[in-house]
Amino acid sequence: MKIEVNNNAVIFNHNNQKIEVHPIWLRERVREKKYLDKSSDQRLFDPSFLDNIDIENAHITNDMLELTFSDGVTSKFQISRLTSEFLDSKDLLNTVTQKIWDSSLQNKPTYEFKDNLYEGREMYELLKSFYEYGFVIVKKVPTQNNYIVKFANLIGSVRPTNFGEYFNVKSVSNPNDLAYTSLALSPHTDNPYRKPVPCIQLLHCIENEVSGGFSTLVDGFKVATHLKENNPEYFEILTTVKVKFKFTDKDVILENKGELIELNELGNFKQIRFNTRLDYVPALEKNQLDLYYKARKKISSLYSSEKFKIEFKLMPGDVIMMDNHRLLHGRTAYDINEGKRFLQGCYIDHDSSEGKLRHLQRKFNI
Ligand code: OGA
Ligand code: ZN
Repeated sequence: MKIEVNNNAVIFNHNNQKIEVHPIWLRERVREKKYLDKSSDQRLFDPSFLDNIDIENAHITNDMLELTFSDGVTSKFQISRLTSEFLDSKDLLNTVTQKIWDSSLQNKPTYEFKDNLYEGREMYELLKSFYEYGFVIVKKVPTQNNYIVKFANLIGSVRPTNFGEYFNVKSVSNPNDLAYTSLALSPHTDNPYRKPVPCIQLLHCIENEVSGGFSTLVDGFKVATHLKENNPEYFEILTTVKVKFKFTDKDVILENKGELIELNELGNFKQIRFNTRLDYVPALEKNQLDLYYKARKKISSLYSSEKFKIEFKLMPGDVIMMDNHRLLHGRTAYDINEGKRFLQGCYIDHDSSEGKLRHLQRKFNI
């Protein structure tokens, strides 16, 4: 990737593909003191009013591009800054490579809580692992009531829901969700009925005296990849039909729609939704529904299969932080007569964890 100048035009040369850069694109990026507030990195001028801007003089010295624009502004640009933006190489997903896993995953990404964790290099490693694997486990987190909210707020901001800032996962009488029983929960994503769907779930184990109640995790992107390769017609229907998810409580009815496998504009995985306690497919034409039901059955059996699932026991002090847009989670049944099982959970947004990761990259110059 190079930058060249040619008759006052600035050219990005990437593998001999030459693209002329628009003068306003460059003029927007002037960083001199008069134009940019140093502490907030925000513009002190409004580029939406720039019009008819040309480059009157351009030259390159070492790693700097010096330009004079037709409105009289002269600016020096660091070339590496321009090229990194052009290639989008500072994009988080370009610096962290996802490691898609199945039940052969050897080592779960595991960290240990300490008081100064949040601003340290280890927090960077933790968040990087989170984006690689879609989850991390943090051990020895103080088991005080409600500590999970403090923990979460040091990474980002807790997103309160109709359950409150946090929720207690234990078996109760008259539960409003099957999570609050001792029944097994097959692999699912949480709250697909919520708008927007919570991004990251944190579950903190406070007590676990029972012999069952194992936690399960599945990498939804791995299963979706498998489906795409082996059953393309199932993959096609699950990536196109928008399913309604609905949660009914005594004072609220929550609904949202989405594909069981949502793709982004590039055809890459964006979000997995799966919760067969709450899904309502539209009344499509019979053949279409026939295919949809076969596809849902297939993906459900893949999610529950030993090939993709990992199973482990959360111990008091363990926090599991998981990407609710990528992973499915569940638990095995347990017997309430054996003792207590008590988890506390909350949700945060990707915004929080991504923002924190970028900040730590900047802080440690990574
Ligand atoms: C939940 C949930 C799992 C567990 O509360 O959303 O899936 O281990 N709980 O109890
Ligand atoms: Zn859940």
